Amino acid sequence: MTESSAPTMRPYGHQILICENGDCADPELATQLQQRFRELALVHGLAKLRNPKRVKCTLTDCLGVCSGGPILTVYPDGIWYHHVDAAVLERIVNEHLIGGQPVEEYIFHRLGAAGTETAPTDEQSYAPDRSGDAQEEAADAPNSVGTQLYSTPEARDRREANRKHRQQKGLVIVNTGNGKGKTTAALGVLTRAWGRDMRIGGIQFFKHENANYGELRALKRMGVELTPMGDGFTWTSRDMDETQAKALHGWEVAKQQIVSGDYAIFLLDEFTYVMHFGWLDANEVVAWLRKHKPPMLHLIITGRDAPEALVAFADLVTEMREVKHPFRDQGIKAQRGIEF
Ligand code: FES
Repeated sequence: MTESSAPTMRPYGHQILICENGDCADPELATQLQQRFRELALVHGLAKLRNPKRVKCTLTDCLGVCSGGPILTVYPDGIWYHHVDAAVLERIVNEHLIGGQPVEEYIFHRLGAAGTETAPTDEQSYAPDRSGDAQEEAADAPNSVGTQLYSTPEARDRREANRKHRQQKGLVIVNTGNGKGKTTAALGVLTRAWGRDMRIGGIQFFKHENANYGELRALKRMGVELTPMGDGFTWTSRDMDETQAKALHGWEVAKQQIVSGDYAIFLLDEFTYVMHFGWLDANEVVAWLRKHKPPMLHLIITGRDAPEALVAFADLVTEMREVKHPFRDQGIKAQRGIEF
């Protein structure tokens, strides 16, 4: 091969992949991280051609662990990082890619034992597809969108259309109405999320702190703890002040848990009553959620009489309507495994 011929291999010291699929984090964050990486790569010379330690950064579809994102993997080391933000990325670049020391506190999975990572060498042989090289080297090409580069305008439009189609957000889901099944439906969604290894939390307003209903038993067995905050429904309360105080305390606890980032899906069970009784202003609750709910957190709120402001704010609202009821129509009392 002469100096002027195109190389048959474009070696990389490392390749990092950042999930942009959207189940683990807002896809926009992946794009921002890739952009930040490009800036760091320029500063450290990691983008230079013929540098055996150069690093390629690619946005990719789901990496198979759809929570705790953004997810970033480093190859060929086989190290998976989660909760990656700009600061963590900078540490990964400085400590791992340049310094050879993985950032242990953000690793949630590794293919080999710690310390067995492959350090990039001058004989580096890892060579991803060459078409990716063209993308990195033509940073100002006319068909670029954000930090992505495309061979034709059609390819760019297709990719953008796909990206928009895939866009996801944490939904606000309201189950309301006078029929049965509001909480049961919510727990069904939690079970679905549990089956997807998502982190689940929730507050049960008005349920007694010692409540041990069948659904709570099931969740406990699944390792999911909902926090019961109430002292029973208001119409059985002997002390309304205490009921109100517990419900308001429940909202304070809920707020802390919602902003904690510890959950992918969160349930506020029977929460509509707190607003319906006038203990909390629905507009203020919505304003707080609008400002503080993490964008990818799914929030489910149940209870009768959902206030208008909440219904307007929610993405999905379902009204349960009672058509027949075994007690009202036949005098059949609540039964184990069905009602509790
Ligand atoms: S959606 Fe990001 S890892 Fe699955």
